[in-house]
Amino acid sequence: MKITSILGSPRQKGNTAKVLNTIERFITNDNEIERINITDYDINGCLGCSKCQEVLDKPSCIQKDDANNLLEKLIESDLIIYGTPLYGHSYSSQLKTFLDRQVSLFKFIEGKDKAVSEMEMISLIAGKPVILIVTCQGPEENNTEIIKLLFDKYCETSKTISLGKFIIPFCTDDISETKNKSHNVIKKIIQVIQDYQNN
Ligand SMILES: Cc1cc2nc3c(=O)[nH]c(=O)nc-3n(C[C@H](O)[C@H](O)[C@H](O)COP(=O)(O)O)c2cc1C
Repeated sequence: MKITSILGSPRQKGNTAKVLNTIERFITNDNEIERINITDYDINGCLGCSKCQEVLDKPSCIQKDDANNLLEKLIESDLIIYGTPLYGHSYSSQLKTFLDRQVSLFKFIEGKDKAVSEMEMISLIAGKPVILIVTCQGPEENNTEIIKLLFDKYCETSKTISLGKFIIPFCTDDISETKNKSHNVIKKIIQVIQDYQNN
């Protein structure tokens, strides 16, 4: 299985990176894993020009940055894992920028006057399983509701299938503490990936 894991944190040795590293180590045997550290790439904000909508079978964004290549990688993936620190109850701005650019994977055919969820649309990543992993300093409750809702909406729009939204609360800069706290959640994530592979 080709797995793409996306690190949405600018801290490549931070909490989210540590969690992704551990998961990748456990699932590496049966899988080809590609890590995308989002801050290694040049990804501009979406221009909202809708030029990508003129080509139906590929992303085709007119911007000459790294987004088109990364979006092609998503199309080729069997599973996509998003890892992000919680920033202001939401995605990191770097990951949000990349998620906005995914509009070029969604081709809106009918109903341009409607809400996105009601428009007739082809998604170039339809049916792909996706996982969200969030690390945060505070608790899960009264802190992560918005990002979980945003991810549900992303899955609806992209027609992807959520295998789960996993929150790792109370992350500190102390490696051993963060590892300790994330242990059970990481085990669950690995289990979910293995169950998906076996079914
Ligand atoms: C700009 C910014 C906003 C943050 N907002 C929140 C927040 O809303 N809730 C929270 O619990 N932690 C928040 N944090 C803490 C980070 O989510 C937390 O430390 C995370 O584990 C950092 O991950 P990283 O080491 O992978 O970058 C924020 C941190 C930053 C830098």
